[in-house]
Amino acid sequence: MSLLASYTVIGAKASEDLARKIATKLGAKYIKSELRIFPDGESKITINGKPNGKIVVVQSVPYLGYARQDKEFLQGEVITMSLVANMFKAAGATKVIVVDIHSKMALNHFKITAKNVSAIPELVKYFKKLHLKNPIVVSPDLGGITRARDFAKLYGTKFIALKKYRDKKTGVIEIRSKNQKHVKGRDLILLDDMISTGGSIVKAAEFLKKQKCRNIYAACTHALLIGDAEKRIRKAGVSKIISTNTIPGKTGLVDVSPIITKAIV
Ligand code: R5P
Repeated sequence: MSLLASYTVIGAKASEDLARKIATKLGAKYIKSELRIFPDGESKITINGKPNGKIVVVQSVPYLGYARQDKEFLQGEVITMSLVANMFKAAGATKVIVVDIHSKMALNHFKITAKNVSAIPELVKYFKKLHLKNPIVVSPDLGGITRARDFAKLYGTKFIALKKYRDKKTGVIEIRSKNQKHVKGRDLILLDDMISTGGSIVKAAEFLKKQKCRNIYAACTHALLIGDAEKRIRKAGVSKIISTNTIPGKTGLVDVSPIITKAIV
């Protein structure tokens, strides 16, 4: 742990609150930045101060954008994650810390040190305080099985993963799981890495409600909640959405600044 190192934290526009929290924990100088968007869409960034020591830039883009484009799913698709990863190196970054990146494959595209930190332990701490009734962790898809397993292990409960099918051309989602009768009467923690349009959570919640579960809590690291996602998720029977503050918003109840700070020093 480099206790003697001095840091400057630059808070970029999308993550000012998180950046300030990290600066406080590091005992670092904090510099605000300004973003101006021109009519043609070009952006101009101004850093309002002189950084010294090690420089930490905190920015959600709005989580790690393009991480879902980590491979060629359909022939001809460009692996844009690779370009994004290269841009960090080109910009002079020597280390990247990301929170719950969509896949480990996305992490492999970086040519500089790239560390993924997990918000799961912090989310578990939050859920422990809710005193749920006989809870079970549910991943809306098989891709999230490790995440659900890790959460369930820390919480001290069981987990299941549903079979989600997404048409790669139309984006239409279907749950193709068999009935999950054992969720009956139990509180559910429906866990995903991100909620974007809410489509995955809505389909999973509708399916689980039919299995006569008790309350459904949606948990994720990155809550984008695009458009009317929140409204549709509630309408599908979800009592509460809980996310971290990687993206500012009213569901961001779990602070990830301690785990990011720990990964910096
Ligand atoms: C997909 O594999 C991801 O883990 C999320 O399930 C997905 O990105 C969520 O997107 P949406 O809210 O639009 O269904």
